[in-house]
Amino acid sequence: MKILKQLALVMLACTLVHCGNAEKKEKDQVKLKSNNSSSASSKEDANVTEVVLLATDQMQFNKSEIRVPAGKPIKFTLRHTGTMDIKVMGHNFVLLTQGTEIPAFANQAASAAENDYIPENTDAVIVHTKLLGGGQSDTIDFDAPEPGTYDFICSFPGHYALMKGKFIVE
Ligand code: CO
Repeated sequence: MKILKQLALVMLACTLVHCGNAEKKEKDQVKLKSNNSSSASSKEDANVTEVVLLATDQMQFNKSEIRVPAGKPIKFTLRHTGTMDIKVMGHNFVLLTQGTEIPAFANQAASAAENDYIPENTDAVIVHTKLLGGGQSDTIDFDAPEPGTYDFICSFPGHYALMKGKFIVE
């Protein structure tokens, strides 16, 4: 009789412990779910500045000025809206450090065909997209540089004269 009582107690204890664990697990799962569905990601998105720049078969960007707020992440997309081949009408977006001599940089870039016209070992490039042919696009993420005015160009040989603009962080 005594043994039976003890056994019953042990079984009761086990049941209680299991029950407690199960409840805890359930709570944890709810917590995880609510974390996943929380607005953390959408808040981040709201903080991101999205920029879309178009480039055409007429060797032009659709913007000569891009303004972004300081201190925020940027989601930047370059889209080549034309149909011409990358070897004939390749376009990229190259954001240059302040004080960069554009013609000198463009000359250097023109001789870097094997690297999509981005000179290696340069400190003049803040960020750049891939080189694109007609119909292609590329998106890059970067943080806005220090407030100020920066030049951007397409570094495909001969394009910078027309394909250039100001990137203004304010
Ligand atoms: Co170009």
